[in-house]
Amino acid sequence: MMPRATKGPAPTAPLRPGDPAVVNVALGERAYDIVIGRDQIATLGTRASALKPNAKAAIVTDDTVAGLHLDAAEAALAAVGLTTSRVVVGAGESTKSFAGFERVCEALLAARVERGDLVVALGGGVVGDLTGFAAAVVRRGIDYIQVPTTLLAQVDSSVGGKTAINSRHGKNLVGAFYQPILVVADTAVLDTLPQRQFRAGYAEVVKYGLLGDAGFFAWLEANVKDVFAGGAARDHAIATSCRMKTAIVVRDERETGDRALLNLGHTFGHALEAAAGFSDRLLHGEAVALGMVLAAEFSVRLGVLAPDQAARAMHHLTGAGLPVRLAEVTGGVPNADRLMELMAQDKKVKRGKLTFVLLRDIGAAYIAADMDPARLRAFLVEKLGEQ
Ligand SMILES: NC(=O)c1ccc[n+]([C@@H]2O[C@H](COP(=O)([O-])OP(=O)(O)OC[C@H]3O[C@@H](n4cnc5c(N)ncnc54)[C@H](O)[C@@H]3O)[C@@H](O)[C@H]2O)c1
Ligand SMILES: [Zn+2]
Repeated sequence: MMPRATKGPAPTAPLRPGDPAVVNVALGERAYDIVIGRDQIATLGTRASALKPNAKAAIVTDDTVAGLHLDAAEAALAAVGLTTSRVVVGAGESTKSFAGFERVCEALLAARVERGDLVVALGGGVVGDLTGFAAAVVRRGIDYIQVPTTLLAQVDSSVGGKTAINSRHGKNLVGAFYQPILVVADTAVLDTLPQRQFRAGYAEVVKYGLLGDAGFFAWLEANVKDVFAGGAARDHAIATSCRMKTAIVVRDERETGDRALLNLGHTFGHALEAAAGFSDRLLHGEAVALGMVLAAEFSVRLGVLAPDQAARAMHHLTGAGLPVRLAEVTGGVPNADRLMELMAQDKKVKRGKLTFVLLRDIGAAYIAADMDPARLRAFLVEKLGEQ
């Protein structure tokens, strides 16, 4: 049965307007809060000093975010008497490199950041991953706070403690599990985010509905316009996403089981992203949207998902302005054999076997290990033929 879509007040809305939603990541002595709401950057200082009373804070950000939100973050820390220094890196994925990592580590040491001090990652997933990894290893570990400024970072990369840089062998291959001590997701900073980046992050929001919460998916169908417009609906979508990711991370912090569900759409998606050279031709979230549609259609092909449910997923993503067809990828996509090769390089491959996240229903994903490559190849050949 299809869950009824609800319009109107969000179930996780704060008790008083203006109060943030708080999601606790219950990981024992590594537990921390995710604070979600408009203008929450202003509370960064009081929250940071409550956790680390006399620390010096080094803020790492990129040169785009620096011009937009760095002053507000510095002012909030200065207001409670915390001394700050800043490290500004270039915006974009190429910064998540060994060279970028060396720069950040050296800059933190030059700023005399000590073991008891604090690092603040202010930016999207690139800054969050790079800074988190630097914080994990500089002086063998310094506490850090995530202040995510993209939708993708607020619902995904800032939560769960995965940090990494890229290697010439692939994305995110060098890193550490290192949890922050706090996440402050100020949803008002998303007002300056380019629409295309917001849409790409929205694909990850839809992912949570598709993988584990049919009611949330239906709510998104009814409220997508309001989520894009901002306000309470946006905050609710972000808080719900954080809750869902947190529940999975708490069950499986190091991805030995359930955490792999978060990879829905990502095996296909990563292959398409890699084929596009991880460039602006196809943003990560756009690749995930396409990948989720392929995962749904492949589930239909395997006879586990009803065709109308796959169509419903596609309809919602395309309505949000996301690509859902291979023909929509600028510059085209490679042939089935090359896509298979790229999928085989994905880190989700274990001993040569392809593991896929498939859908039984909207809100019910499952991990299908040991996928038959011949069936997958036949499916891809057919999809490529449809272009
Ligand atoms: N650690 C994890 O669990 C995890 C999960 C998902 C993705 N990731 C990583 O996240 C990265 C992608 O993150 P992303 O999509 O946030 O990209 P990003 O950090 O490159 O940000 C996208 C662009 O938006 C700009 N920007 C950021 N905030 C802004 C704002 N408020 N206003 C205007 N512009 C703003 C940035 O300068 C950048 O140009 C990838 O490297 C991916 O591997 C990590
Ligand atoms: Zn993703």
